[in-house]
Amino acid sequence: MGLLEQPAFLTLQGMKTQQLALSLSQRFSQDSQRFATFCLPFGEHMQVDFSRQHWSVEVKAQLCALARDMKLGGAIEALFGDNLFNHTEGRAALHTALRMPVDGCVKLQGENVVPLVHYELARIKAFCKQVQSGDWLGFNGQTITDVVNIGIGGSDLGPAMVTEALACYQDQGIRAHFVSNMDGAQLAQVLSQIDAARTLFIVSSKSFSTDETMTNAQAARAWFLAACGDATQIKKHFVAVSTNASAVQAFGIAAEQMFEFWDWVGGRFSLWSAIGLPIALTLGFARFEQLLAGAHAMDVHLRVTSFEQNIPVQMALLSIWNINVLGMNSEGVFPYCQVLKRFPAYLQQLNMESNGKEVNNQGERVAHNTGPIVWGEVGTNGQHAFFQLLHQGSQVVPAEFIGFARSVYDYPEHHRKLLGNMLAQAEAMAFGKNYDQVATELAAEGLSDVEVAKLAPYKVMDGNRPSTTILCDELTPYNLGALIAMYEHKTFVQGVLWNINSFDQWGVELGKKLAARLIDDLASDAVTTAHDSATNGLISQIKLWSKE
Ligand code: F6P
Repeated sequence: MGLLEQPAFLTLQGMKTQQLALSLSQRFSQDSQRFATFCLPFGEHMQVDFSRQHWSVEVKAQLCALARDMKLGGAIEALFGDNLFNHTEGRAALHTALRMPVDGCVKLQGENVVPLVHYELARIKAFCKQVQSGDWLGFNGQTITDVVNIGIGGSDLGPAMVTEALACYQDQGIRAHFVSNMDGAQLAQVLSQIDAARTLFIVSSKSFSTDETMTNAQAARAWFLAACGDATQIKKHFVAVSTNASAVQAFGIAAEQMFEFWDWVGGRFSLWSAIGLPIALTLGFARFEQLLAGAHAMDVHLRVTSFEQNIPVQMALLSIWNINVLGMNSEGVFPYCQVLKRFPAYLQQLNMESNGKEVNNQGERVAHNTGPIVWGEVGTNGQHAFFQLLHQGSQVVPAEFIGFARSVYDYPEHHRKLLGNMLAQAEAMAFGKNYDQVATELAAEGLSDVEVAKLAPYKVMDGNRPSTTILCDELTPYNLGALIAMYEHKTFVQGVLWNINSFDQWGVELGKKLAARLIDDLASDAVTTAHDSATNGLISQIKLWSKE
């Protein structure tokens, strides 16, 4: 039985009108305990406030019933053992094994994979020690000061986001750079900042066949050889992270210079594996372990906590309520934290590549919406750009605010103002400002009745716009690990309820194939006629202008 046929879902649909009839203002004025009822703790460092959503305890109970009816408990358990969630690629999804303690057990075809994980972690640790201690020397005997991660998607976004988020912990004397794009401008910018003799390139690619990564890696190798002049020195400056040992060796990186992960780790769930090497190198291995520990704590929370108190489960159920019942198909994520500026981009891959699907696990078209459009920006910047739409736009966008009570940056006044702004935005979205309030304010400013009547409609904010606030004590490696894992699990639970495979990404393949052909067409001198008129026309114009 699909989502739409579930009795609990039908009940939820029946509740919609009544729920929408009650505004957030009314809900809060009728219930002084609303925050206490809907705010859930995660350990001692994090809490998530769901009170500003268009829901009630009855809706929450029905959503939990829906999850039970759809066997969510069994699916969660399967995330920690043999599963075939990624059935279209014949693969398991076992990223939880990547942050299991050494004595943990996650079985794949009867074999515990946790020892494999810890074997690789030990290799990463030893390698980090060599580089950080200065034992690992470049071709002219100098130590390494810069690492350049060459990878894209899941082989870029996680480590790039985390190293920036935890920049204040970068005390290993090693800078991280990231090259992902097919636009050579990014590689050129990075190369202009580094010294070949003191740089380590990490070629990161699960498949080791992604065109962007291979093109950038070849160009980086050519640049390195031009500077060094000795191909035998490549081994001191290039390592790889991949599941594809033969392709790594074909590229010219020896087996002992490759850090392995496994096909049961999806690219967008891989930052906990060797893909996190830039994190461990720049922050130190101990901090990488704290990141893993935070993620593992969230795994345990997912596994043992009742649905009612389970934060990722509640996040996912709320999105089902907002998307499939209330019809709100976009989610805005707003970290009030400058160093989390890549977090929305990270979440876009995590959620949209996972749940942007229109076919269910039985190969049939789904009859309901699935993955939302996820977007966002750090606060307060977003306030001066697009928050106008959040407050008065004709589409309602549920918002997720992320804030930290303490900042490690020593600007207490900034931080107070930052958090004040975050709280203000959530309050303004929820409660707005009605006509009478606006009119009273304008009159107090000395406007005449006619002027008030003219201006007031533009200043009215209906409010009643939902948001969730995630509050942590501080942005530590542990908390960040937990936060990321929380969103991973939200994504997974959504996929279970939508009955889709959250772990494949067939939709990106066609574009890759077409690009290969179009790249050839662009290189050819012949007039291109093989495509539609738009593509042919654009190719002609590109060729014309590229000759100028
Ligand atoms: O094209 C999409 C994708 O396969 C992502 O799922 C993945 O994270 C990214 O490309 C990079 O893939 P790889 O790590 O194999 O280079």
